[in-house]
Amino acid sequence: MPEIKQTPVANEPASNGAGSHKSDANQSAAVKEHPVADALAPRARYAHIVGWGYHVPEKVITNHDLEQIVDTNDEWIRSRTGIAERHVAADPKETSASLAVIAARKALEVADVPASKIDLIICATTTPEYAFPATACVIQDALGADNAGAFDLSAACSGFVYALAMARGQIMAGDAEYVLVIGAETLSRIVDWTDRETCILFGDGAGAVLVAASEVPGGIVAVDLGSDGSGGNTLIVPAGGSAMSTSLETVSSGMHYLKMDGKAVFRFATRVMAASTRKVLERAGYTTDEVDLVVPHQANIRIIQNSVLNQLKIPADKVFVNLEKYGNTSTASIPIALCEAIEAGKLKPGYKVVFVGFGAGLTWASCAIDWRTPVEKQAAGWWKNTRRQATYSAAAARSMWKRAVRWVYEVLPDPEAPGREAGKETPEAPVKELAGERTKE
Ligand code: ACO
Repeated sequence: MPEIKQTPVANEPASNGAGSHKSDANQSAAVKEHPVADALAPRARYAHIVGWGYHVPEKVITNHDLEQIVDTNDEWIRSRTGIAERHVAADPKETSASLAVIAARKALEVADVPASKIDLIICATTTPEYAFPATACVIQDALGADNAGAFDLSAACSGFVYALAMARGQIMAGDAEYVLVIGAETLSRIVDWTDRETCILFGDGAGAVLVAASEVPGGIVAVDLGSDGSGGNTLIVPAGGSAMSTSLETVSSGMHYLKMDGKAVFRFATRVMAASTRKVLERAGYTTDEVDLVVPHQANIRIIQNSVLNQLKIPADKVFVNLEKYGNTSTASIPIALCEAIEAGKLKPGYKVVFVGFGAGLTWASCAIDWRTPVEKQAAGWWKNTRRQATYSAAAARSMWKRAVRWVYEVLPDPEAPGREAGKETPEAPVKELAGERTKE
């Protein structure tokens, strides 16, 4: 793992995040006075992003390509959204999990941490592999993260920041050392490609970060999470859940596609992006002038301009935007933008960073980060690369082996099951077992 720098930074955050107002100075003074307590007292823990990676499908659909599909044009899309092109999972084998696994491996590589050390995997997604099992479990298996819990988080485009907040909580509570946080989407699979008001907006991709526990102050110092369910119908996939289960009718009427009231979402987004950023900065003890970098959800350039630039007066050179290349990749948009901001040299240790997003729910979320992790790319030797590849092959082999063992258990008769002596199973035995009856020999 890269060494997290204890760089002396002006305006050290006064608190260890939202809700905690005990300064580090006060804590250490108290500890000095009580040497026994020093030994027993839990050490302050901080949650730092120590690895990052992203992956997008190869296929690119430009605005001109969309002109062939729906009644739109490049000029309209660029001027109303800022989007020029988007990546789309054209290969059926490309799924939210497959994109996520590649992004996650890159994040682990940057952090130089093996998958076996991950304690928890949180996958924020609006386009999971299945209703269940969780996409995070598919990722866990592919990574060979055998010591990790795994679950999906549903908060639409705000999901990645929600997941970061959960990761921070797990780490600060002492329940995890490493949490892998992923935003992964194949929105092209739920977009109605005949609806010009939505199909122009979205793209596919995945981004991942590894969050690690450290005693070095900083990292994710404050979070703000919000929701307003009364606006749920403004951005919704109506069918496929318990409210409207999938049927021939729902499919033929296109109710399994994303529906959006663009204007209502726009108004909501411009309001909450600014309000949530203000709140999280206050919790972190930062002013807007002190912010070095904002990585906003990449939905529409006009939303970013109206909220971050106009309302918060944060200058454009401190706001990272890459939506012209990817469109709105929902939960993946902030981690993809973070990776590109790092590649572009826009992030350095000591920087004060804000992630802010909004999405269906309606939801919003922001976090303030006191960034301390070195961002220079470390060259990995051939040996490390070979070992890493071997680990992934071993993970695939282990997964196949476990499936094979399960299959064997399924097809072979269980000699210990009552009434299931090999070759002599009686059809009523399972019913009796269910009823809790004792089977007479
Ligand atoms: N091409 C050409 N014309 C179009 C298109 C298109 N693709 N789409 C709409 N129009 C037309 C409309 O029909 C309308 O025509 P009319 O005036 O004759 O009725 C005109 O353009 C203006 O439409 P508006 O809806 O007023 O356009 P607006 O400027 O509001 O932009 C947009 C629409 C881009 C959808 C905007 O409202 C927006 O970005 N909203 C927020 C969407 C968003 O960020 N969603 C986030 C989802 S996050 C998640 O959780 C999944």
